[in-house]
Amino acid sequence: MSAKKVTVRMKVNGKDYVREVEPRYLMADFLRHELQLTGTHIGCEHGVCGACTVLINGKTGRSCLQFAAALDGAEITTVEGIAGDGPLHPVQEAFHDAHALQCGYCTPGFLMTTIEFLKTNPEPDRDEIQQALTNNMCRCTGYVNIIDAVEDAAKRLREGAREA
Ligand code: FES
Ligand code: FES
Repeated sequence: MSAKKVTVRMKVNGKDYVREVEPRYLMADFLRHELQLTGTHIGCEHGVCGACTVLINGKTGRSCLQFAAALDGAEITTVEGIAGDGPLHPVQEAFHDAHALQCGYCTPGFLMTTIEFLKTNPEPDRDEIQQALTNNMCRCTGYVNIIDAVEDAAKRLREGAREA
């Protein structure tokens, strides 16, 4: 028997959505199946791999660990929202240029984690970057290029801020 549905209102990537979902519907499924935002990936479904990371009211969160209903009224940013229809976000550009992805499955989670991290630490050293990424897993790259990319992204964002 399916549970009674609840109304969920959310702003995702700047757009308002209202959906009726079962109370136990996961946020990751809400994004992927209700809103067709399939850039948020599901890996472990246990809060371990970081592939499903999104920004929830500006802070990173695991969308596989949260019920959509519990996020009623929240503002969410997914990987689709970081650049909009414009050119790539500087963090995306840095990942591209540093070859910081292979299959790319982990990449949305790394991007969202990096964006939050560089807001709080705009000039990190490599140890701090490594520490910031410990909760995101990548099975392909060996992480070195990802750390290079985050270092480069920090530089790009600092230079962009100076030009702005
Ligand atoms: S799918 Fe959410 S942390 Fe792995
Ligand atoms: S690029 Fe394949 S898991 Fe990270």
